[in-house]
Amino acid sequence: MTNRKLIAGNWKMNGSVGANDLLVRAVLAGLAPAPACTVAVCVPAPYLAQVQMLRANSPLELGAQDVSPHEKGAFTGEVSASMLREFAVRYVIVGHSERRQYHGETDALVADKARAALAAGITPIVCVGETLAERDAGRTEEVVKRQLAAVIHVNGHCISEIVVAYEPVWAIGTGKTASPEQAQHVHAVLRAQLRAATAHPQRVSILYGGSMNAANAASLLAQPDIDGGLVGGAALKEEDFLQIVAAASRCD
Ligand code: 13P
Repeated sequence: MTNRKLIAGNWKMNGSVGANDLLVRAVLAGLAPAPACTVAVCVPAPYLAQVQMLRANSPLELGAQDVSPHEKGAFTGEVSASMLREFAVRYVIVGHSERRQYHGETDALVADKARAALAAGITPIVCVGETLAERDAGRTEEVVKRQLAAVIHVNGHCISEIVVAYEPVWAIGTGKTASPEQAQHVHAVLRAQLRAATAHPQRVSILYGGSMNAANAASLLAQPDIDGGLVGGAALKEEDFLQIVAAASRCD
């Protein structure tokens, strides 16, 4: 059984009130009233309220890019899952490689963030992926399995509720995409690990991320274990994003 595809845009630290307005309106204008795939945008926290209003009564889902592992309290600068929930956030990215790399996020912290999201009824999009040095050293499987194992360890009872995103670090923002075969291979490894961790028959969605664009999306999304995309740069251009959505819609 295959899943309905999910295309999630990760705007990263981009946007402005004016630019968001234009981008979201253009995406909404190009989306079918009932798209054949699920479409989301993960926006910077200050813009959640704006995008929530723009997307009201549309099929576009709202996502955030990070969440605190804590429920509430003296954690200056952090945003809790229940706060995100108040803005109708359905997805939150956790463990993006940029957070692991620049903010020292560990596997254990990522697992706790996933737990906080799940507790608030938000689907965590858990990112895993190897660096170029790790790939060159033949350590890709070991690295992604270790990253996912930490999340399974803490969230095993509801692991079927998560989304996983395989994002090879060397493919992010570089224009170097993993080949469909390279991506499929890692997705199959992650699929096997998830299957072993849950008795639940529901299939966990595994997205690919890393220089996905209008030209390469169809061949990636055609792979049996690629259930969608986590799209960075191309999500900031409505035409490119809509073409990726169209490619995903044709797969169903
Ligand atoms: P790019 O699509 O810009 O390579 O970014 C991918 C990504 O990091 C999505 O989370």
